[in-house]
Amino acid sequence: MENKRGEWGSNLAFIFAAVGSAVGLGNIWGFPYKMGANGGFAFLLVYLVLAIFVGLAVMLGEFALGRSIGRGAVGVYQRLDKRFVWIGIIGVISALFILAFYSVLGGMVLRYTVAYVLELVGADGFAGMGTDFFGYLLYDPSTMMIYYALFMIVTLVICMGGIKGGIEKFTTIAMPALAVILVGVIGFIAIQPGAIEGYKFMFAPNFEPLQENFFGVLKTAAGQMFFSLSLGMGNMITYGSYLKKKENLQKNAVIVTFADTCIAIMAGIAVMPACAAFGVDYGSGPGLLFVSLQTVFSVGMGGFVGNLIGFLFYFLVFIAAVTSSISLLEVCSTFAVDRQIDTGKEPNRKKAAGFFSLIIFIIGVPVALDALGSGGAAMLAPYEILNSIAGTNYNFTDGMPMAIDCWLDLYDCLSEGILMPLGALSMSLFIGWVIGTKYIIDECEVEGNKFIGAKFFEICFKFIVPAGLIVILVAQLQDFF
Ligand code: PHE
Repeated sequence: MENKRGEWGSNLAFIFAAVGSAVGLGNIWGFPYKMGANGGFAFLLVYLVLAIFVGLAVMLGEFALGRSIGRGAVGVYQRLDKRFVWIGIIGVISALFILAFYSVLGGMVLRYTVAYVLELVGADGFAGMGTDFFGYLLYDPSTMMIYYALFMIVTLVICMGGIKGGIEKFTTIAMPALAVILVGVIGFIAIQPGAIEGYKFMFAPNFEPLQENFFGVLKTAAGQMFFSLSLGMGNMITYGSYLKKKENLQKNAVIVTFADTCIAIMAGIAVMPACAAFGVDYGSGPGLLFVSLQTVFSVGMGGFVGNLIGFLFYFLVFIAAVTSSISLLEVCSTFAVDRQIDTGKEPNRKKAAGFFSLIIFIIGVPVALDALGSGGAAMLAPYEILNSIAGTNYNFTDGMPMAIDCWLDLYDCLSEGILMPLGALSMSLFIGWVIGTKYIIDECEVEGNKFIGAKFFEICFKFIVPAGLIVILVAQLQDFF
């Protein structure tokens, strides 16, 4: 049975893959811009507290749940208690929506990478648009679709290769490469005049944003934390299900949480000082990774060095995005493979991955075509649709509940904002109060492993995690009404 599903070759391979899943656009694109818009230091502080008291425990719970049964997001509930299968289904649905918008962004990152390659060989990679390229790209439906499709295909091909032959092979090379490039970029930016302001923004204590809008910061930091650690949607259950019994789960959970948080902070200390040095607004929003950093590389640095660093940086983001997107697709593939095995069929991973990628691709088309909601694009944004059918008068910059400006926001809000915390809350109640934390602790202690943090885990899981999640969900929904 085990061989039919596949297995990680070693614990290190598992760590690379899990860190690869966690580290992605969430860290390099999401973290800096959300921190930028939510008060820098204050956001960082709330994020760290949440990662330690909520994220870590949920991560461990997911690893243990997956490994104990050897099944993915849905399969574990199927075996443990059929009444809760819907928790797994929520996870698969989240994966579909996340991967849809994720791949569109991944495609854009790929386009920027290609642009810098072209610039390096002396061609005009930015189609004569210079730093206006971002806006131009959004209104170029064919390029958006082509790069979106390319990104999906890369994800699909790796997933088809399976756990050891595909995912593991890619992540063990990609993750160390990513760390090296990131350190290089940080070093380069650190020596730019004016960079210091960026560090101050992140690390100089400033509690004002918390007094002004505590729930706003909490909610954004929490959503970001779940998303960044790939939690609450069965991703780590899935990866855990391919891990050997002898490996130490708690150590792995600490390593993955720590590594992901470090990379997010590192992305911050690359992006924030870069903004400071080159006069870009921290709070420029989702475009920060594109518009602002292109300015940094192409205008601030310029010339060959600028193009080279630009290429390395976007290539790094691309790698990080792929190691995450494969884990999202894997949630879906594993769901299908487990079902096939459990119903006595020969599992067909390639077919499963192909089928789900197609569905996801279709779901993501509006994201690729609505120009992030700036209006008048190939595809109407949600608010434009509402205006035309319900006669409302929303516009791009304000009005829509939960600040949904475009399809990407809608999917993001649905998955990161609602389904992930809901999934995590249900899972934590399931572990804490249905099967009991002892189940997880026992799984951590198989084959003679000692679970040192068992008490901490128990308290987190029974009380802190559910309480925290309820506050987060309420804060989230409050925005809506
Ligand atoms: N953690 C990934 C990131 O930070 C995104 C992701 C979310 C991946 C959920 C898998 C599951 O980009």
